Amino acid sequence: MSMMLQTYWNSRFEAGDIWGTEATPSAVMAYPYFAADQAKQLFVPGCGYGRNSNFFGEYAFEVTACDISEVAIERASSHAKAVGLANVNHFVGDYLNLPFPSTERFDGIYLSNILHMYTEEERQQLLTHFTSLLRKDGLLIFSCLSARDEKLYGTGVEIEKDTFLVHERIAHFFQEEELFGMLEDQYQVVEMTLHKQRIDFKAGAEQDAQLWFVVARKK
Ligand SMILES: C[S@@+](CC[C@H](N)C(=O)[O-])C[C@H]1O[C@@H](n2cnc3c(N)ncnc32)[C@H](O)[C@@H]1O
Repeated sequence: MSMMLQTYWNSRFEAGDIWGTEATPSAVMAYPYFAADQAKQLFVPGCGYGRNSNFFGEYAFEVTACDISEVAIERASSHAKAVGLANVNHFVGDYLNLPFPSTERFDGIYLSNILHMYTEEERQQLLTHFTSLLRKDGLLIFSCLSARDEKLYGTGVEIEKDTFLVHERIAHFFQEEELFGMLEDQYQVVEMTLHKQRIDFKAGAEQDAQLWFVVARKK
């Protein structure tokens, strides 16, 4: 587990529930898909302080959720406990190095704003890894940054196509055709739409991001 990454995220989450306590719009949009599929086992990698893992837990899915930040997981677990959710298992862990085998165990995987943090090669490896955890016909549902976001796109130094280094953090902005290309071998794309998400809650700095909402079914 990368200590630098852990330290970075811990320090961000020391400030509390930095993006608010409500589930993200994409988690709310994902719910009917998981429900219609009668999904039982969901995985939420990089769950942060649990705003989405606990949201899914409230709908009685069996939720496994991990984050590299122990500060985040402490908050996520205490939120779950406060509302009596025994069906959400939060643990501190690196989603690239999980304490269980990659054996197609989940009916659904939900990623809120994870895939944009990587270079092209890393994104491909991450997708392959998450795919190995999903059963055939399972749903991968995620939100990610969009190259159509005119306000956010282009800040920082471009290190790869549509990938920028902003305060030493990678931010990749996805194109629609790129997402189709990335998914086509292993998935059937069910929905790909743009939606808005509030991303900055500091006083006077409220900002909406234009994100992709992607629903893909494993072939
Ligand atoms: C942009 S935040 C999104 C948090 C959460 N998905 C949400 O929307 O509230 C990225 C999250 O990924 C976590 N993270 C980054 N790298 C990770 C890794 N290798 N394993 C597990 N979690 C990781 C961070 O700690 C952080 O909580």
